[in-house]
Amino acid sequence: MSALPARVQLVEVGPRDGLQNEAQPVASATKVELVQRLQAAGCREIEVTSYVSPKWVPQMADNHAVMQALQRRPGVRYSVLTPNLKGLEAALADAPDEIVVFGAASEAFSRRNINCGIEESIERFRPVVQAALAAGVKVRCAISCAVGCPYQGEVPPDEVERVVRLMKAIGVQHCGVADTIGVGTPRKVQAAMERALRHFPIEEVSGHFHDTYGQALANIYACLELGIDHFDTSVAGLGGCPYAKGATGNVATEDVVFLLHGLGIATGIDLDALVDTAGWISGQLGRPPVSRVARALLAKKAAA
Ligand code: HMG
Ligand code: MG
Repeated sequence: MSALPARVQLVEVGPRDGLQNEAQPVASATKVELVQRLQAAGCREIEVTSYVSPKWVPQMADNHAVMQALQRRPGVRYSVLTPNLKGLEAALADAPDEIVVFGAASEAFSRRNINCGIEESIERFRPVVQAALAAGVKVRCAISCAVGCPYQGEVPPDEVERVVRLMKAIGVQHCGVADTIGVGTPRKVQAAMERALRHFPIEEVSGHFHDTYGQALANIYACLELGIDHFDTSVAGLGGCPYAKGATGNVATEDVVFLLHGLGIATGIDLDALVDTAGWISGQLGRPPVSRVARALLAKKAAA
């Protein structure tokens, strides 16, 4: 067996993927404080918000206010989602370090999430990618439903590779492979990741796992075995996609950090500060963190 990576880069997606699905309004000041706490805990890549239609995702309507209020730290990469040129233009005014175009390996999910099919989505992304690169902004993609779709069911690796190829052809620099509804298991996830690795260098491939079926940590381990060292995670396990009903949050950052540190893999993240942040944001939302590690460590602290 080959060695696992010595260091892993986590992209904290809690402020975006985590909060986009909240039914209750979350104050912009709370979102800003969340980002500040995450960067203080050592997060070096943070997905802050998305420039999507406020009719589709009302929770992200305050993108501009949140981006403008951030006290940015040098060395932290702030990313945002941009589905089209309108979103990109608004985003560029707030100077993100990276933008994310988000497509899907399933035709049905693409239509539900961004109101167009896969081919059309790529044609929409093409000028977005060009303009972002021209502005010196890094471009990442997310490919949803890479191992299963709430509408279509199974998604074969060939269909994932088709979208990977299309994303590469339009100039996307980093390929995120997403299990939107958390149905993936390690070998299926490896099969999907391997298709991304055929077209992108390993340091430009990442896994994005929702933990709906409790498989995310096993899937991350399966990716580590392939040498993949980039994952999206969400503090306190917040989140879900509004267009994937029943899908729960991303794998919790603190669960992944606990796993990685236990394996001797560096993340640069202070677990204690992260767990405090998980407790804080969960308190703001009026519920306990879903993460096992946050619950365990917060209970231990309370008992001490
Ligand atoms: P559409 O209705 O086809 O767009 O939506 P349109 O171009 O026909 O415009 C319709 C209206 O939306 C117009 O306003 C536009 O101005 C406005 P009106 O004239 O009706 O007042 N509009 C916008 N407003 C603000 N920002 C924009 C924008 N674009 C158009 N960028 C669209 C197409 C893509 C906009 C829509 O479907 C949308 O916003 N979808 C967002 C869906 C979304 O955010 N989903 C969650 C994020 S993806 C995710 O969570 C998955 C991920 O985590 C990976 C995984 O887990 O799988 C990344
Ligand atoms: Mg997601």
